[in-house]
Amino acid sequence: MKFQPVRGTHDLYSYELAKYRCLEEVIRSLAKIYGFNEIITPIFEHTELFKKPLGQHSDIVLKEMYTFKDRNNSSLTLRPEYTTPMIRAAISNSLLEKIPKKFYGIGPMFRRERPQKGRYRQFNQINFEILGSHDVAADVELILLADDILKNLFPNKKILLQLNSLGDNDTLKIYKENLSLYYEKYKNKLSDESRAKIHTNPLRILDSKKPQDLEINNNAPRIYNFYSENAKIKFDNLQTLLKDAPIDFEVNPKLVRGLDYYCHTVFEFKSDDLGTQDTLIGGGRYDGLTKLLGGPDIPGVGWAGGVERIIMLMQNNIKIEKKVYLVLINESFKSYGLRLINLLRKNKIPVFFDYKYNLKKSLSNANHLNSEYAIIIGEDEIKNNTCTIKNLYKNSQKTVAFEQVVKTLS
Ligand code: HAM
Repeated sequence: MKFQPVRGTHDLYSYELAKYRCLEEVIRSLAKIYGFNEIITPIFEHTELFKKPLGQHSDIVLKEMYTFKDRNNSSLTLRPEYTTPMIRAAISNSLLEKIPKKFYGIGPMFRRERPQKGRYRQFNQINFEILGSHDVAADVELILLADDILKNLFPNKKILLQLNSLGDNDTLKIYKENLSLYYEKYKNKLSDESRAKIHTNPLRILDSKKPQDLEINNNAPRIYNFYSENAKIKFDNLQTLLKDAPIDFEVNPKLVRGLDYYCHTVFEFKSDDLGTQDTLIGGGRYDGLTKLLGGPDIPGVGWAGGVERIIMLMQNNIKIEKKVYLVLINESFKSYGLRLINLLRKNKIPVFFDYKYNLKKSLSNANHLNSEYAIIIGEDEIKNNTCTIKNLYKNSQKTVAFEQVVKTLS
């Protein structure tokens, strides 16, 4: 039997892995500059951690979580997102005594969605959270960070930032009731999927891409008509600060996000080059979440980016470091060869050795791996205590004394 990866999962290697590592480097260096500390949480958590916070009627909880019974009958779930585990970790480890706290994390998440381009069942997320501040400056800082990461990676690509406010909890409650009343009037025209959400999750109907829902959505009540004074001021302030930054954005009153914990600011960074799964980064404010998870009553704001989607936009021009390829022409030169690569590695020069002892095969593989140099050791080199260095990029070569190799290659 030939095993294949499980549907919706994939292996990372070669250029894709090099891009993943490059992205990780950008993230870690910017996290330091912006003052975020890393938290790594377990891959699985108690199921209850996700159920209520993400929403009993959200798609994730209803049909996408990988949940299983442990041997002691407790229910565990592979984490479908990072925000709740990150807050759980901050509470469990008493990290919230002095606030605000800024955390980040990178790692795999699991959702049983229908796989397609840019959508997997195991995927990786970058996640940034600020816990303990009501200040819209925190929202702005996070948006600036996301913008910085994307501009760093894609200086020439057009990436759109969409913004909305869901208002405070009262706004949302009244808005949802009004949406349900509105959709009830059109229940026979809505898609089956949307009809099922009229009373459980009417916000998500606004998101629907089904053709029969689009026109109904165009005339649906708009959330900005339900904002409290405080919510309106907050959203105006956010927009002013973003304009001052300056950051380009577009307000989309239909932007609602898929998780239940949001209030006030929600935002998404999108790219036209990705097809239907076009959101690179999504996030927002979740002021009641830490309390809901058993922690102090403090607000929070954050975002997550899909690593696979970001990697899809990156070019395959990342250098995979295989600087030197050792070519030993004869097996009896092994000891000389090992001495040489030991010397190079001690001087931090990457070397690849293939144990083939065949000039033609080794040179062909060196080219295949995109090595910059091949060091060829034949009889003359052994006799004269030298090495022949072939520059495979320039197709030139020279012979130098054994002791000179490091200097020549550095
Ligand atoms: P989310 O919108 O569910 O938000 O996911 C964030 C990002 O993860 C998406 O924009 C997308 O790039 C990527 N993503 C989601 N699902 C998949 C998938 N099946 N395959 C590939 N990529 C995917 C959250 O997870 C929130 N926790 C974000 C957040 C953090 N809000 C506040 N703080």
